[in-house]
Amino acid sequence: MSGKNIQINGERLWDSLMEMAKIGPGVAGGNCRLALTDDDKRGRDLFVQWCEEAGCTIRVDKMGNIFARRPGKNDALPPIATGSHLDTQPTGGKFDGVFGVLAGLEVIRTLNDHGVETDAPIEATVWTNEEGSRFAPAMIASGVFAGVFDIDYGHSREDTDGKTIGAELDRIGYLGDQDCGDHKFGAFFETHIEQGPILEAEEKTIGVVAGAQGQRWFELTLTGAESHAGTTPMNRRKDALLGASKLVTEINRIALEREPYAVSTVGMMQVSPNSRNTIPGSVFMTIDLRHPEDETLIAMADALRAACDKVCADDGLTAELEEIWYSPPIAFDKDCVEAVRNAAATAGYANMDIISGAGHDACYISRVAPTGMVFVPCEDGISHNEVESATPEDLAAGCNVLLHAMLDRATA
Ligand code: GLV
Ligand code: MN
Ligand code: MN
Repeated sequence: MSGKNIQINGERLWDSLMEMAKIGPGVAGGNCRLALTDDDKRGRDLFVQWCEEAGCTIRVDKMGNIFARRPGKNDALPPIATGSHLDTQPTGGKFDGVFGVLAGLEVIRTLNDHGVETDAPIEATVWTNEEGSRFAPAMIASGVFAGVFDIDYGHSREDTDGKTIGAELDRIGYLGDQDCGDHKFGAFFETHIEQGPILEAEEKTIGVVAGAQGQRWFELTLTGAESHAGTTPMNRRKDALLGASKLVTEINRIALEREPYAVSTVGMMQVSPNSRNTIPGSVFMTIDLRHPEDETLIAMADALRAACDKVCADDGLTAELEEIWYSPPIAFDKDCVEAVRNAAATAGYANMDIISGAGHDACYISRVAPTGMVFVPCEDGISHNEVESATPEDLAAGCNVLLHAMLDRATA
């Protein structure tokens, strides 16, 4: 059977999403399943169990990336793969990442239901630490897989407690033996909620993702001088938090001056010594700059450096500003994008081309395999928030598009 007219089981996909969401519940209806925690392990174990029940064989690589394989008629062909991540933000939703993982499983279950044999094998994958929340940078394990980072860099990234990715992979039993990247794909597709408001506003069910914007991540430590809050006159202070506050405003302006596409965020700040009657002596902060064009992204980074120099000169502070990550703007493979567009059109889903504002594992995989992505709307465009929501109908539509884009590439 070719599988031309088959459809995925939307209810089973939804039930699996809700079952996975029970692992690492948040406090407001979403999830907190940070990378390589015990809850991440439980989520991985459940995915592996479901894939084994669906007849897949499992491989795990040295970054803990999981590959669940359904054999093809010609098992020597490189697999047509899909997947995303199971880790979440500290106050994350039930769909960011998880939808892309369980959509892959649903594709495999559907092919089994209908006895469809593909020429190439099909693989459902899970990528480690996509979020970059517990361990920076984001998408690190798909990055190692794609040869962007070496394995020692990947294993040695630390969380704020000094625990490393390598040690935590070992602790939860997901330090696999396969060399990263020693695993070729014929094509890769990732389904994801849009995480922004465009599809909902345009009343489209499917986003045909043409590419993703670039990102530059920085870490900044501003240093001034601790001194007594009651006895130090205002004109003798070197207040690192005051300097940081001015910079937050400047960083915001850097994006506002480049609307509509530029975005900038200070998402994390640590104030030292964090005592109410000591002037803050140092501040650590993170800066996330994004834009779809490299030229503008470079100009934004230059503006950040200039703003930092000015605040230091004005406020008597010193700065250590380090760019810790650069992810360039991406254009996905034109045949894979076309396969997604055709699958959406054939199924009769309203669709439009879109550029991803978020980073995704597909961005790094696109360096080593022809890659495409499928977006579905999420309510009010909200993501990285426990209220993140998507409808069972839209998720099923995204999964159907995934199924047929994969079938297109997996069958001669
Ligand atoms: C990943 O979630 C990102 O920050 O784009
Ligand atoms: Mn995601
Ligand atoms: Mn995310």
